[in-house]
Amino acid sequence: MFVDSHCHIDFPELAQQIDALLAAMRTNQVSHALCVSVNLPHWPNVIALAERFPNIFASVGVHPDYEDTVEPTFEQLVELAKHPKVIAMGETGLDYYRLEGDLEWQRERFRTHIRAARAARKPLIIHTRSASDDTLRIMREENAAEIGGVMHCFTESQAVADAAIEQNFYISLSGIVTFKKAEELKEVARTIPLERMLIETDSPYLAPVPFRGKQNHPALVRHVAEHIADLRGMSAEEVGRVTTENFIRLFGPAGFKPEGVTV
Ligand code: NI
Repeated sequence: MFVDSHCHIDFPELAQQIDALLAAMRTNQVSHALCVSVNLPHWPNVIALAERFPNIFASVGVHPDYEDTVEPTFEQLVELAKHPKVIAMGETGLDYYRLEGDLEWQRERFRTHIRAARAARKPLIIHTRSASDDTLRIMREENAAEIGGVMHCFTESQAVADAAIEQNFYISLSGIVTFKKAEELKEVARTIPLERMLIETDSPYLAPVPFRGKQNHPALVRHVAEHIADLRGMSAEEVGRVTTENFIRLFGPAGFKPEGVTV
């Protein structure tokens, strides 16, 4: 049993084959997936999928890479998070890799999400790229630890993983951990506490080996689990069971109780 803790199945290339993707999830024992919001104009598509399918959950938020988009207010985020299928706030965070110039607006947007997450009692989904110092600093300043969350698609160092875990966050590993050159990340996957680990696809991007370069989708999260299992000398089923328990402990969606999982 596996859960994909982060995917974008509302993106058109995946949404148009949604029935096939859900069938592939069943075949691969991927019981649930969290469809993550990237901006407000596309939010209706995200929540529509969560309303239509019992095993799809949603988050609400605006990604730091979307510069020219509707800026979310604190009130708006808190209000949208009241929907029963919304189990997280995000994805939010900082990205100094894709964008340049004065990025104060990114930091302000990030702070707004953390405040809204605390008010709405929904854990955060944090994206950080080439910005780990500022990300951890703002998390600290805004007391993100109070609500916790996940550092998604983690690609940072062991020190950043440790600092995030110390702030009550989980570390989510994507298909990148299966890539040959990701030596440092493999080491993180070997050493972080299992009870702090989640797995994800971040589909449609970053398909794991042996599908690298192809279109990614939630069923492939199984290959992320298999790779971590090899690194840690355990079974993929065990990685699936523990990461599913972690998902429930962190997000705790109502009515979410896959069989064989004890939390
Ligand atoms: Ni994402």
